[in-house]
Amino acid sequence: MIKKGIILAGGLGTRMSPVTKAVNKQLLPIYDKPLIYYPLSVLMLAGIRDILIIVNKGQLNQFKKVLPNGNNLGIKISFAEQNYPKGLPDAFNIGKSFIGNDNVALILGDNFFYGQSLTEQLKKCVKLKSGATVILHPVNNPSSYGVACINKKNKIIKIIEKPKKNISNLAITGLYFFDNKVVNYFETLKPSKRNELEIVDLLNIYKRNKSLSCKFLGRGGAWLDAGSIKDFYETSAFVAALENRQGLKIACLEEIAFNNKWIKKKEVLNAVKFYGKCDYSRYLLNFIKKNNS
Ligand code: TTP
Repeated sequence: MIKKGIILAGGLGTRMSPVTKAVNKQLLPIYDKPLIYYPLSVLMLAGIRDILIIVNKGQLNQFKKVLPNGNNLGIKISFAEQNYPKGLPDAFNIGKSFIGNDNVALILGDNFFYGQSLTEQLKKCVKLKSGATVILHPVNNPSSYGVACINKKNKIIKIIEKPKKNISNLAITGLYFFDNKVVNYFETLKPSKRNELEIVDLLNIYKRNKSLSCKFLGRGGAWLDAGSIKDFYETSAFVAALENRQGLKIACLEEIAFNNKWIKKKEVLNAVKFYGKCDYSRYLLNFIKKNNS
């Protein structure tokens, strides 16, 4: 069972410069809340309550203003700094003592997941005892992603980073589940040609050991990665369209915590005080009215 999760929320945000020159991408708004709320909500939906957020050196205080601690959410949030973006697997080096002897989930801070079967799939993924699990989702531009080829039994037979030829349209999303061996495997990684540690190299170790599995969100699921200005605004528009149509918020952290029975009405009202007079607070007040307990 996976009870710990890491959110990688550092990075240079080069593709979004100059917007990201002064502010970390994960603190910029996807419609009505900071981007970091979305990956955090995914871990919470998975039932994970012990969370490490890795941020760039010097940005801790900015993050702590938005997510002071997990008290209002009934979870534990710790922070760590990354000196410079060495690559995604660096999470297992920075997070070594946080992970200890446990299995761990990793989610990229700019990844957005949504869909009816999402929670159900997440609950299956956290049951992982050994090996690693990735979530695959079709994309129109596989050459921009790490992709996986699968056989008829849904076994991963090949993983390729940014393939030039269209060998598969199944991208490896930024949500991974690892057993504790990941900490040792990390030690064997060497920087790639672009001088970064590559998550694909880590996944290939699991594949070689026949312990890499995959899950799918299915056609009804959405996976967006808010990495470029265009993707960022498209993700924002997606959230705005759904929230305004349904009157239900995506990634409302207090709502998820309350539904998970991690917090009660009191904590939600504390959150309203913390946020002040805003649409998010009004939503929380309405939610509490409907779910009085
Ligand atoms: P990337 O998309 O690789 O990098 P980036 O977000 O900095 O963007 P750009 O390519 O435009 O410079 O990273 C994916 C996510 O992982 C993103 O949320 C930042 C985070 N990240 C880290 O926190 N540390 C790292 O070392 C890397 C490589 C990424």
